Amino acid sequence: MSAKDALIATARAARENAHAPYSNFRVGAALRAKSGRVFGGCNVENATYGLTVCAERVAIWKAISEGERGFDAIAVVTDTDGLTPPCGACRQLIWEFCGDAEVVMANLKGKVQVYKMRELLPSPFDSSHL
Ligand code: THU
Repeated sequence: MSAKDALIATARAARENAHAPYSNFRVGAALRAKSGRVFGGCNVENATYGLTVCAERVAIWKAISEGERGFDAIAVVTDTDGLTPPCGACRQLIWEFCGDAEVVMANLKGKVQVYKMRELLPSPFDSSHL
């Protein structure tokens, strides 16, 4: 199995744990560190709606809180015909922690597309502007 397929498989497994009773839109993510470690994440909703956390950010928080730094890819998996891009807030945070990493979008039917963060977030605001 390729590294990309392994990342998608981890995101797919994480999606099984999605807590999405309000939207019923279940998302899985997997973040790959340069060290080789992979962190899964799923979306976690709650009754306020607004405090929902996306799968991508859960994966990032898990990795950062475990002491990991430096990432080269993140996968996002949904059960849709098309593919699901990270929301704007997640793009900002993927840029913050992963830079110009690969973003692998996949669905359960085997459709896959790979982007670079630069394509998804041109002219990002980051620490270089402070
Ligand atoms: N969601 C994610 O987890 N990641 C995305 O890339 C898009 C949106 C979640 C948030 C919410 O739980 C549900 O999908 C519907 O927006």
